[in-house]
Amino acid sequence: MKQAIGVIDSGVGGLTVAYELMRQLPKEKLIYVGDQARCPYGPRSAEEVKQFTWEMVDFLLEKDIKMLVVACNTATAFTLASLKKHLSIPVIGVIQPGARAAIKFTKNNRIGIIGTEGTIRSNAYTLALKNIKKELEIRAQACPMFVPMVEQGILEGPKAKQVVADALEPLMEHNQMDTLILGCTHYPLLKDTIQSVVGEQVTIISSSEETARETSTILEVHNLLNHDEVFPVHQFYTTGELDMFIQISERIFKEPNLQMITIKKATLPQMQDS
Ligand code: DGL
Repeated sequence: MKQAIGVIDSGVGGLTVAYELMRQLPKEKLIYVGDQARCPYGPRSAEEVKQFTWEMVDFLLEKDIKMLVVACNTATAFTLASLKKHLSIPVIGVIQPGARAAIKFTKNNRIGIIGTEGTIRSNAYTLALKNIKKELEIRAQACPMFVPMVEQGILEGPKAKQVVADALEPLMEHNQMDTLILGCTHYPLLKDTIQSVVGEQVTIISSSEETARETSTILEVHNLLNHDEVFPVHQFYTTGELDMFIQISERIFKEPNLQMITIKKATLPQMQDS
């Protein structure tokens, strides 16, 4: 089926998932929305995250998407259940795939989770992990400084390292984790810095690869894969300023791939009314 896969995030974080989708499903067209104007979602109430997420979804439904990938942990934590209940297209979030991947890798059953305040408060990862394996020892830590830093394009260097080291200190002190889940799609952009802080002995899990793999399975099961030979031009929308979005897209997708992308500004339904 030629229709696009819809991908949503509060900003540029979901681009890490989009990148994997493009790599694993090269024939599938993506329509991406990042709500940069209202990012971060992490400190917001569940109600607000739900409302903003549904606005992005309504924007994409107008474009006749065949499947929805919620490439934002915070939106997944608060909205996945309601999206699954009300939408007639398949929907996938990033939390279950991330939890499954972590369980595959841990050897000592000690897992750390980092995410936004909202995701950590929701307990969604701990529940997902414990549901699969009860004996896990889990420690979760909110890192509210990371998303604003990524949205400003600060991904490495002494400032990034200091912020990451300070945020992860409590996690490092109390848990001899061998696996760390990046429970926010912005964090893979800080992966090298995070790895240098936690050490090479810790396996870092980002759910993007796993989410892309599961998306592919879901499309196949529902007979929704595109078998057309024409390679797609993906559409990327941001509700915020284009400059930073383009800069970070360039870092993620590298130059040549940008020819396959159009980037535009979006006004979501509710934003139009106000
Ligand atoms: N990238 C998002 C996530 O995975 C949200 C970050 C935010 O807006 O706070 O949680």
